[in-house]
Amino acid sequence: MRLCINIDHIATLREARGGLEPDPVTAAHICELAGAEGIVCHLREDRRHINDRDLRLLRETIKTKLDLEMAATDEIVKIAIETIPELVTFVPERRQELTTEGGLDVRGHKHHLKDVVSEMHRHEIEVSMFIDPVAEQVEAAMEVGADKIEIHTGEFALARTEREQHEHLEIVRTAARQAREFGMGVNAGHGLNYLNVRLMCSVEEIEEMSIGHAVIARAMFVGLDRAVREMLALVR
Ligand code: PXP
Repeated sequence: MRLCINIDHIATLREARGGLEPDPVTAAHICELAGAEGIVCHLREDRRHINDRDLRLLRETIKTKLDLEMAATDEIVKIAIETIPELVTFVPERRQELTTEGGLDVRGHKHHLKDVVSEMHRHEIEVSMFIDPVAEQVEAAMEVGADKIEIHTGEFALARTEREQHEHLEIVRTAARQAREFGMGVNAGHGLNYLNVRLMCSVEEIEEMSIGHAVIARAMFVGLDRAVREMLALVR
């Protein structure tokens, strides 16, 4: 199981003062030195955290792999093609949301996504779709030509009881199996933390976890290096 760290919230903190610190590019290097196998960032339309300069520098300096989360809009697609991340993950995006809410409706946007996936493949960029663990969406991801899916684990993370948590875990497992049967890779993320990640790791079909908030929040108290190493120990 690989661990990729989402560094958006380092940039959120920087933007709170509009200055230069803390720098998400420095954070990315600390995450890599601590053992993270990839760096994830989301270039939003409103640039509320990661900005174009960050993406450029991350591309130039990351030594593991860069996973760019993005909406399938013309502006961001153009930037992705100029950047050539190892992976793009298509996510839904609404300006008012606090964080990504719900998975992408791949089924409802099949034609557009198929074109965008082809465009990414023309530039040798791997493509993942961030979707809810729902059979129709997994199928749609395969139909548009995605290489991978990232399963939205938000419902699992919000479960209030152990029983509810296990129910959501099984829903994730079923979607992960279906994706693998279709020949796609499987990532997972959203709301995963130091308490729930081990259970999610029991889904053997998942190859990679994408975790941000919990690690960056813990880094406030123990430092980023230790926060990443502790999460790695759980994931592995
Ligand atoms: N994966 C995707 C597609 C996301 O949008 C996010 C949130 O930015 C994450 C993973 C990480 O979620 P969290 O910050 O809750 O760990």
